[in-house]
Amino acid sequence: MTPNHFVELSTLPSGVLRKVIDAAHAMKAAGRTPTTVAAGKTLAMLFEKPSTRTRFSFDMAMRELGGGTIVAAGSEMQLSRGESLSDTARVMSRYVDAVMIRMLDHDGLKEFAEHATVPVINGLTRDSHPCQIVADLVTVEERLGPLPERTIAWVGDGNNVARTFIEAAGPLGFQVRFATPDAYAVPADIIAAARANGITVTTHTSAADAVAGADVVVTDTWVSMGDADAQERHRLLAPFQVNEALMAKALPSAIFLHCLPAHRNEEVTDAVMDGPQSAVFDEAENRVHAQKAILAYAFGAI
Ligand code: CP
Ligand code: NVA
Repeated sequence: MTPNHFVELSTLPSGVLRKVIDAAHAMKAAGRTPTTVAAGKTLAMLFEKPSTRTRFSFDMAMRELGGGTIVAAGSEMQLSRGESLSDTARVMSRYVDAVMIRMLDHDGLKEFAEHATVPVINGLTRDSHPCQIVADLVTVEERLGPLPERTIAWVGDGNNVARTFIEAAGPLGFQVRFATPDAYAVPADIIAAARANGITVTTHTSAADAVAGADVVVTDTWVSMGDADAQERHRLLAPFQVNEALMAKALPSAIFLHCLPAHRNEEVTDAVMDGPQSAVFDEAENRVHAQKAILAYAFGAI
């Protein structure tokens, strides 16, 4: 039987994303007292790239579910000396109950999942960040209520986090607007596929157009892990800074999200990050509740 992988929102079985978000709300409401959902289980966490939130929130999530973790950097493993992903997946499946991986190569993570006999969770690739989007949508619902018909305006680089929002829009019924420079747009095939699936998505080259009347304004760093063209990115993305003037174009009730880490006064100003519409630290906390729900799904407990 295929394990309950959490690799791409778009390939989850129908209804799972909604179920995971509902579980995250319920787990948050139940508090941080440990449960037995993962009693006796161990999550391995492999990091090819740095992490603060993903690492600590998954570790706390496993502790609160009654289980434990083993953390390793890719550079410390035989992967760094050429052992194949498929052999590593087979071996790790004999040791632990689930594996969370952060690696840039999305196809590599999928290859690992294909050969693992325990659940594999995507802790970020160059193409997607599904655990982040669960936490973000929990945050939107707790601040603004139901998602259907809400408008989420993404401003900046059309990166992994941006692309993952669109995967959730169909199952959950919200609308997405992307404001990006042409050079860093969400790929046209992703936009076309979303539209073909009935998702309302618009693309803009003006941040103000995308944000007008939006419920949620969200951005991310201009230079993601693995990006080499930092100087060009700063030049082309400068008009996409989220500042108070831009936030004023959204609904008065709008919230601001950022997966963090933020580069203050680049993609977002201090005034917005620390302002009354910012939900970024709730969003960061919600990573723990989201991870607990994702792990409960992986372990077949929800
Ligand atoms: N948002 C996020 O994934 O943060 P980390 O890179 O610190 O894990
Ligand atoms: N887009 C960023 C997200 C970091 C959590 C990156 O990939 O570096």
